[in-house]
Amino acid sequence: MPNVAFINGAFVPLAEAKVSIEDRGFQFGDGIYEVIRTYKGRPFALEAHLARLDRSATALDLTQPYARAEWTHHVLEGIKRAAYPEAKIYVQVTRGVAPRDHDYSDEVMPTAVMTVREFYPLDRSVQAAGVEAITTEDIRWGRCDIKSVNLLANVLARQQVKQAHVFEAILVNEGLVTEGAVSNVMVVQGGAVVTAPEGPRILSGVTRAVVLDLALKGGLPIQERFVSQADLYKADEVFLTGTTVEVLAVIRIDGKIIGDGRPGLITQRLAASFTSLAG
Ligand code: PDD
Repeated sequence: MPNVAFINGAFVPLAEAKVSIEDRGFQFGDGIYEVIRTYKGRPFALEAHLARLDRSATALDLTQPYARAEWTHHVLEGIKRAAYPEAKIYVQVTRGVAPRDHDYSDEVMPTAVMTVREFYPLDRSVQAAGVEAITTEDIRWGRCDIKSVNLLANVLARQQVKQAHVFEAILVNEGLVTEGAVSNVMVVQGGAVVTAPEGPRILSGVTRAVVLDLALKGGLPIQERFVSQADLYKADEVFLTGTTVEVLAVIRIDGKIIGDGRPGLITQRLAASFTSLAG
């Protein structure tokens, strides 16, 4: 059964999975989500993703319909039913269906959906060569730590990416690099791995945490602080982290060459450590 969908407790073919036009996710973006991928058929860091889903739910006063063990069961079942070599699992919880009004009632039942689609890992040649990025103004709201389905600013940034024929947009808030439109950004400066601190300005990536841990274990100093846009261009190395991008070198930003224009040694080392851990 390809392209598996799950809606409020039942697995159905994707084409049959429907929600009401009065779902608050549809009308207000009042919902949260996670994206998880498999390696050799097993979901990577599922616990961490489900923990973040809980944190997002708590931050929005949204009732989680399933405990973590139940979500785990549904995710594993979805992967089994889809039976892809590798899968991308999308989990979303919205506040549910109610006549349109901005405020909400506790009585509304949340809507829980999941899709399982085939995941196509990034081409190894892209990984080896590194990618190009642009910068764009970070116009998002003040709670980017919540993985909310309200992604309009990210959507606009990703459209700029498409139009510029590059790989990712690096978001800049008042001169400081926050993160990518769908990834976290790390910079190597004088041998240290530097990335924006956790807090309301970034989504604390599951991959980010794994990579910082790998850096520490590999004896690399890490610094969680903001890097300016000017220092970004002057960095020795820049790379992205994320569920879909893993650890990915950025070799050019806004047309400017980063380092010597090739994936740097620290990036390569972390990418290799990440692959041996996850893959
Ligand atoms: N996005 N920052 C943003 C804004 C993101 O959207 C994502 C992931 C990340 C990386 O987080 P993680 O390592 O937990 O995947 C950082 C997913 C893939 C998406 O929206 O499709």
